Amino acid sequence: MSSPDRFLLAGVMGWPVMQSRSPTLHNYLFARYGLAGTYVLLAIEPAGLEAAFRALAPLGFSGCNVTIPHKERALALVDTADPVAQRIGAISCVVVRPDGSLAGTNNDAFGFVHNILQQQPDWRADRGPIAVIGAGGGARAVVYSMADRGAREIRVINRTLARAEALAREFGPPVTAVAWKERHRALEGAAMLVNTTSQGMVGQPPLDLALDTLPQSALVCDIVYVPVETPLLAAARRRGNRTVDGLGMLLHQARPAWHAWFGLEPAITPELRAVVEATLI
Ligand SMILES: NC(=O)c1ccc[n+]([C@@H]2O[C@H](COP(=O)([O-])OP(=O)(O)OC[C@H]3O[C@@H](n4cnc5c(N)ncnc54)[C@H](OP(=O)(O)O)[C@@H]3O)[C@@H](O)[C@H]2O)c1
Repeated sequence: MSSPDRFLLAGVMGWPVMQSRSPTLHNYLFARYGLAGTYVLLAIEPAGLEAAFRALAPLGFSGCNVTIPHKERALALVDTADPVAQRIGAISCVVVRPDGSLAGTNNDAFGFVHNILQQQPDWRADRGPIAVIGAGGGARAVVYSMADRGAREIRVINRTLARAEALAREFGPPVTAVAWKERHRALEGAAMLVNTTSQGMVGQPPLDLALDTLPQSALVCDIVYVPVETPLLAAARRRGNRTVDGLGMLLHQARPAWHAWFGLEPAITPELRAVVEATLI
């Protein structure tokens, strides 16, 4: 926590990392809570990751976030990883402990669920089949969180079927793998649809997915947050589905991260969201 002789430090390690909105988010929180500290971009090439991790404690960092492409390798570099990180197979957050050792965790799943709950308080994971598009790192966190919350059927639909199958094998029931060419029909009867691919992100084509078989009652989520309203979310909204965008997933990850780094859990307010959203326009 804040003390007259301690300047609070945290950051995000990635490569590339300049596009990250995390400094806006965390530096807003330092200002809001009146704490002396800063959150910096740490552009770390893969070859330098281990040395960068070892430098966190001597430099006085409380911890850092980890983003593309380091999330999976980071799991092997921390001294301990909690069960959530081990199950997801990747780390999104490192905490420097008082003895200088590094603890790894993954807050992506927490962010995904608590963003939904803030926007749709009645939501439950066990209402019906969940269709997850993609089988990469983001999908792993989404699948973990849905299974953890009691989902009874999770259809993982991925361009590379083998990756979806590997995920289904690893997580077991309720996860099933669905071939890419079956994706349109796989939405039939779904209570929820989640895009975890990079499709729809700025610079990428929209996700190629027809929503005709998706019930109008289904909740549609995207973890892409640039733009905040992806073409998928816009199409879902137009046909009457409720939607949840991906920006809040990023914001809510700050809650457990700050609790572990600085001993306080920040509130995710409309003002914070507006400050970060303003950088995405
Ligand atoms: N809101 C948040 O806090 C948050 C957190 C994590 C990630 N994200 C966002 O989620 C997105 C994915 O990130 P990630 O870490 O999961 O990436 P990743 O591990 O590289 O996975 C990418 C996924 O996208 C699929 N994909 C890529 N190009 C495709 C195409 N042309 N057609 C169909 N599928 C395609 C891949 O399929 P294959 O397996 O066939 O290659 C894979 O399933 C990014 O936009 C990232 O910014 C957001």
